Amino acid sequence: MKYRDRMLIKAWEILKKPDARILAIESSCDETAAAVIATGDICLSNIVYSQIDLHKIYGGVVPEIASRAHVEKIGAVVDAALSDAELTFEEMDAIAVTSGPGLVGALLVGVNYAKGLAYSLDKPFIAVNHIEGHICANYLTHQDLAPPYLCLVVSGGHSHLIRVEENDHYRLIGCTQDDAAGEAFDKAARVIGLPYPGGPKLDTAAELGKADRFLLPKPRTQGSYDYSFSGLKTAFINLTHGMVQRDEALPVNDLAASFRKAVVDQLIDKAMKAVKDMGETRLVLAGGVSANSLLRRQIKSVCDEEGIKLYLPELKYCGDNAAMIGAAAFRRLSHLDLADLSLNANPSLRLV
Ligand code: KG4
Ligand code: ZN
Repeated sequence: MKYRDRMLIKAWEILKKPDARILAIESSCDETAAAVIATGDICLSNIVYSQIDLHKIYGGVVPEIASRAHVEKIGAVVDAALSDAELTFEEMDAIAVTSGPGLVGALLVGVNYAKGLAYSLDKPFIAVNHIEGHICANYLTHQDLAPPYLCLVVSGGHSHLIRVEENDHYRLIGCTQDDAAGEAFDKAARVIGLPYPGGPKLDTAAELGKADRFLLPKPRTQGSYDYSFSGLKTAFINLTHGMVQRDEALPVNDLAASFRKAVVDQLIDKAMKAVKDMGETRLVLAGGVSANSLLRRQIKSVCDEEGIKLYLPELKYCGDNAAMIGAAAFRRLSHLDLADLSLNANPSLRLV
């Protein structure tokens, strides 16, 4: 029997098990990660090796360095995930991996490693879209959460409003017309001299600053649920360069606070407009930027005021990790959506 047919039969059997376990691998950018997930939402182990120290002298992720570091670390990271879960390769029911979007060389390391494991262990192989992973990170914490719901996905490459429909179908409600929110945070951080990774550093500086010190422009977008951050970014760069040219010391904390407020206000305004127009009762956040402290505080208070139930991913599941990939893999498995051993990395894989 062909591998694919054999695996479909195995998948049926796995779905009947009360404690099915997935070994998940994530290597789409600068984190080498592996996790063991049971029954779709129980995290038995979650190992993340961050490459920040390797990239920070360059001020951003260097793709070749990322790929090489994944190759060097992936074996140890997977072994650590199994040993933390006190389980063996043979006790895994399926192998899952992020197949895109991301850096092609980085993705290929995870895809090929996972493929080798699935083949040699003769277990089902599951390909996961990284963005679906970020959304599914919420299932690890909120056992009561199930589609349909509206999700704001904000990461280094995405600022999307996505409706998660029954059967885990995804519908695009709005998205950024230019830069992603995380990208804008990283750029703004660099302009005011904060080191990589800029987003979290800018968030920390902003906690100490005055958000009303600088007025930044609000964007005009085509669709009412779309985002735009490039005009805001340009205005911020011009503001900062003006100060540098006048030899003024940069009020880093106030600049960070003003920029953060402009981004967060826009994220929340559009998301809440969609919530109201679509009659949603729940709002879910996902992606690296959902770790932003102002975003978490402000969206909580707006949702409380409006009577909307808000779901936030735990901080440990906001950034890239493999636990979220395992959670998404379970949903793919439940739809018998298995990957073939011919799976390739797809750097521009779309969810919607
Ligand atoms: O989801 P993620 O870890 O990777 C991608 O899939 O892109 O998101 C990374 C992005 C980066 O741009 C990073 O600066 C941003 O999330 N980020 C933050 C914070 N933590 C991470 N941005 C603002 N405030 C934070 N606390
Ligand atoms: Zn991510």
